[in-house]
Amino acid sequence: MAEPKSIVYVDEDVGVDEASVPGTEAQPFKTVVFAYIQTQGAADYLTRKSKTGTVLEGADKSALLEWKPAAKSALKKAVNALQQHQKKAAREKELAVQRQKEDKARHAAFEEAKKIVIEEDSSLPKAKRIRLDDQEDIKLRSASAAGDSVEERGTRIRVFGRVHNLRKQKDVIFIELKDGYGKMQCLLTGKLAKTYDALTLTRETSIEIYGELYEVPPGAKASLNRELHADYFRIEPIWKAAGGEDAITTRVAPGADPTTLLNLRHLTLRGDKASAVMLVRDYIEHAFLSVYRSLRMRKVSPPALVQTQVEGGATLFKFDYYGETSFLTQSSQLYLETCLPSMGDVYCIEKSFRAEKSLTRRHLSEYTHIEAELDFISFDDLLDHIELVISRVIEMILGDPETASHIKRLNPSFEVPKLPFLRMRYSDAIDWLNEHGIENEDGKTHAFGDDIAEAAERRMTDILNQTVLLTHFPVEIKAFYMQKDKNDPRVTESVDVLVPGVGEVVGGSMRMDDYNELMAAYKREGIDPEPYYWYIDQRKYGSSPHGGYGLGLERFLAWICGLHTVREACLYPRYMNRCTP
Ligand code: 4AD
Repeated sequence: MAEPKSIVYVDEDVGVDEASVPGTEAQPFKTVVFAYIQTQGAADYLTRKSKTGTVLEGADKSALLEWKPAAKSALKKAVNALQQHQKKAAREKELAVQRQKEDKARHAAFEEAKKIVIEEDSSLPKAKRIRLDDQEDIKLRSASAAGDSVEERGTRIRVFGRVHNLRKQKDVIFIELKDGYGKMQCLLTGKLAKTYDALTLTRETSIEIYGELYEVPPGAKASLNRELHADYFRIEPIWKAAGGEDAITTRVAPGADPTTLLNLRHLTLRGDKASAVMLVRDYIEHAFLSVYRSLRMRKVSPPALVQTQVEGGATLFKFDYYGETSFLTQSSQLYLETCLPSMGDVYCIEKSFRAEKSLTRRHLSEYTHIEAELDFISFDDLLDHIELVISRVIEMILGDPETASHIKRLNPSFEVPKLPFLRMRYSDAIDWLNEHGIENEDGKTHAFGDDIAEAAERRMTDILNQTVLLTHFPVEIKAFYMQKDKNDPRVTESVDVLVPGVGEVVGGSMRMDDYNELMAAYKREGIDPEPYYWYIDQRKYGSSPHGGYGLGLERFLAWICGLHTVREACLYPRYMNRCTP
């Protein structure tokens, strides 16, 4: 006689589908399918819905607790599910066996590969160490060279770098190497491609490669139209980069969200775009230094830790300085002014700090401020100077082939600003905004005295689509130190430079040079003049008509490189709630 089947219980309301559940009356499963798969169909299945089941009208609710044999339809479904389950399990077993086989083969291949030892061939010419963009005294073997005569050979070089891109084929490994100066296509073939280090090579691994330089074959493309045919390479154990789940391509995958990219900025910086922006930034700083030097301006380095404000108390970062309240500087302007008598025209490239409590695409908490101060000038001289410096810097950066090629790739539609820049008074801008139906922040028409908000300013610049020197802002909306216009004391001799896509990149003005006027300005603004004694003294010991400006390097870079936000223009951006990495 066949053994009586065991009974398995299913309560669709309170049961639990888990392998650890015994399927007893006290601990039933939840579904017939799960119970059936667990017991391989070898039981009798009793079911109930102890809470939601239907009972005949008038019957006692306790009828819900009665167990009934599983319905035929439920069993049929369970049989199908069991079959599927068994098939899937068999497939998985097969795959596991296959994987095991492959792992074993790979392991064996690795063990074999480890036995391959490569050495530099001492009979080859001595390799010349170069950077990846070096071209001086370098010969390429022609792609069509037939023989191997000494005259036909390319220069034998050695290069250090990191693996930027990697393509492994059966007998050849293509490496795109980068070293911060350029890129080079390198080919590992023959024994080199079969070594353990070659088989396990990952992106960002550091490597030294020796070999001969060839022209790229017709139709192929590579940086500087050359490629390195390796005859030897070397990877120290600590030079290897993580692979698998930890590979750089997994951690900063294309299309990753901006927060991840910012948290992993140290890795993002290794990418093509971020590194190009940083290289353009480097050259722009160099261009400013060089243009300023050509104008006989002197570089100074004012302090970052200060006890005076320049651009209003709202954006001051305060800190405790040995028990005294101090600030991170908002601008070095006041210090630059003190240099004029002894140094002539001066400039600085320093950090400025603003506790901006808004997250816009052009505000940072820490930014690089290029500031200049010029002595014995008129307001028109100041405007001419700003126009000259900006156009010379742009001319210089576009004249550098490497920088120009980065800019072309980053911002193909960049247009060199036409000279002269459009000069527009603030009061005319207010009329222009109203004529174009652009409202102020309260949704009203603009009125004289309004601060032109970021959105309105950007719209105006985008419509005008040219570089604008916006001048003569009202006294009330500008800083305490600005010189009033002699012909209209309601306004200051001030200027903002606006550029398409970004808006304001420069803020400048003539400075109040009269002692009494300056003291009255402190009073008007409610600023205690005491900590400014050194600034005020400039008006006591040989005052002069002078003025200057500050240019935000990140905004300037965002304009040139067509960046959506100034955050991309910083090495490690600092803005509200981000002070890492
Ligand atoms: O217009 P601002 O506030 O002017 C000054 O600080 C003057 N004291 C400068 C001077 O005359 N020496 O700032 C000048 C420029 C702005 O046009 C802008 O490009 C940049 O500095 N800037 C900022 N850039 C990034 N993030 C911020 N929070 C910025 N605030 C100003």
